[in-house]
Amino acid sequence: MAFLRQQVEAGVEVEVKFITSAPNLAGRPEEILPEIAFIGRSNCGKSSLINYYLDRRSMAKISGKPGKTRLLNYFEVEENYYLVDLPGYGFARVSKSTRHQWQKLIRQYFFAGDRPMAVFLLLDARHKPTEDDKKTLKWLQDAELPYSVVVTKIDKVSKNILIERYREIVTTLQLSKNTPFFPTSSTAKIGRENLLQWVDALLEE
Ligand code: GTP
Ligand code: MG
Repeated sequence: MAFLRQQVEAGVEVEVKFITSAPNLAGRPEEILPEIAFIGRSNCGKSSLINYYLDRRSMAKISGKPGKTRLLNYFEVEENYYLVDLPGYGFARVSKSTRHQWQKLIRQYFFAGDRPMAVFLLLDARHKPTEDDKKTLKWLQDAELPYSVVVTKIDKVSKNILIERYREIVTTLQLSKNTPFFPTSSTAKIGRENLLQWVDALLEE
């Protein structure tokens, strides 16, 4: 199988197709392929990271307006697997019912158990992990999904604060030593290789 990392090494443009924006599980693509999902607080850089991952400027929509992604956005990579841009959480200005809907959709998605899946949990380097981050991680663990922790926007933070932040993340989220942990910056283009490697390893399993 032709994985993305090999394409990248060969300097070949990644073949990627936008498939669908699903408002619920029934709206997921008919064809079952492994799914690599990106989850995190609104504005933490999910869509930017997907674009950086794919080396495409505007595959996933990027917004300065938090909370814009409300759907499960599917991108098919190399006819091989899906990247799924999930709606962000923790946006202060949403109603209780919107929040509730979000929780329901994400929980359904993680616990469906009917499709092979792994998840990147994104944390913005500028902020301490929140209760929502903890809750999301707990769901991933309970659903027994393979996951990795991705710190985003590391270009925004000084080295000293970064080191402190990494420590904080590991402690607050009680990450085990073998949880994959990937510092990244979509803007400064840092950390892509580690993400590709992790996905390749999962797909080879
Ligand atoms: P929602 O879909 O609204 O939940 O947001 P998102 O998590 O998809 O975040 P998005 O990629 O839209 O990025 C939010 C803002 O952060 C945008 O203004 C991006 O340009 C900026 N941003 C994303 N990644 C980085 C990064 O690595 N470094 C810097 N400096 N800015 C970033
Ligand atoms: Mg987005």
